[in-house]
Amino acid sequence: MFNSFAAPPVDAILALSQAFRADQRPGKTDLGIGVYKDSAGATPVMRAVKAAEKRVWQSEGSKAYLGLGGDETFAQAIDDLVLGAAVDRARVRSIQTVGGGAAVRLICDMLVEGGAKTIWVPSPTWLNHIPIARSAGLVVREYAYLDHVTSAIAFERMLQDLAQAEAGDVVLIHGCCHNPSGVDLEATQWTELASLLSKRGLLPFIDIAYQGFGDGLDQDAAGLRHIAAQLPEVAIATSCSKNFGVYRDRVGTAILLGQDAAGADRAKAVLLAKGRVNYSFPPNHGAATVATILNDPTLAADWREELESMRKRMVGTRAVFATALRQATNSDRFDFVSRQKGMFSLIGLEPAALQKLQSEHAIFMPPDGRMNVAALRETDVERVAAAIAAVA
Ligand SMILES: Cc1ncc(COP(=O)(O)O)c(C=O)c1O
Repeated sequence: MFNSFAAPPVDAILALSQAFRADQRPGKTDLGIGVYKDSAGATPVMRAVKAAEKRVWQSEGSKAYLGLGGDETFAQAIDDLVLGAAVDRARVRSIQTVGGGAAVRLICDMLVEGGAKTIWVPSPTWLNHIPIARSAGLVVREYAYLDHVTSAIAFERMLQDLAQAEAGDVVLIHGCCHNPSGVDLEATQWTELASLLSKRGLLPFIDIAYQGFGDGLDQDAAGLRHIAAQLPEVAIATSCSKNFGVYRDRVGTAILLGQDAAGADRAKAVLLAKGRVNYSFPPNHGAATVATILNDPTLAADWREELESMRKRMVGTRAVFATALRQATNSDRFDFVSRQKGMFSLIGLEPAALQKLQSEHAIFMPPDGRMNVAALRETDVERVAAAIAAVA
């Protein structure tokens, strides 16, 4: 049997990482993989994470199983971070998951069990959304999101597309720092979207994987909180991979908002059952670390400060890079880079230009041109801008 397997579809980002590792040229630059890097090009462990890990190690007296939903103090702390004061906790239930990716999967499984047939996802969206939704059994339809000409939101087309959705359909929305475009909805657009969802009986599923990377922790959750306050049922997938930098520790939550406590309880039970037949229990270490930080005012303040300095570095890099591109190309073609949010921008180069960037300039980006702006070191800015100008 094993020899008969066809190779699974290539994951463009993982393939790019492999090509990058195999490349022997000095000065090669990886702008593909989705991890934050500091100005030295490193992805260090955050200060509060290191301190909290020590406390977890010192205080942990047992490694016996926790419940299927993991660490409840962790899940509640994430509820507070994400929802703020927007909703009454009586209708909120949440569980710890194996990163944000597993939260997306378990929520899709739960939605299928609840009778959902179709999920609408933005075009474009995170590389993994469509495969996860399909493997859970959902039919995937795309709604317009990015206007590739202006590199801004295609809001009118988005509303037109979603007007075709049928009651009970699920609409996946990026909470902030849209991956891969960096283009987010404005406050008024969130309001319009909320009323369309409500009018048409659509179920919002918000994936928030970059809270704190855009405009700040509360600002990045404002749209999500509006939807949460307005709609009767909402599903939310969160990830601590980026904002706590605990990528490999696999830390996330699935949050469900029901019409009332009974509905939320029923949905949570389905979610737990889906986890049980998948990975059983989520791992403890990363979630315990994050809970330790969020439940300790000193560690939490230090984490917020370091996160804010990461955010400011990304905002600053975007501004400097946009200026360098303006000078290198003698045009405003890439000005959008400074207006976008979070780690990613779609740089808008043709596949052949991206190929040249890799072969002639040792600059690696995936075939869709998703650039990790957060991976640019100050010392790379001029060289990368000149290379883009040369191939564009
Ligand atoms: C939009 C989005 N959702 C979810 C995730 C999942 O992250 P993880 O499973 O590493 O927590 C990512 C990671 O890149 C993402 O970009």
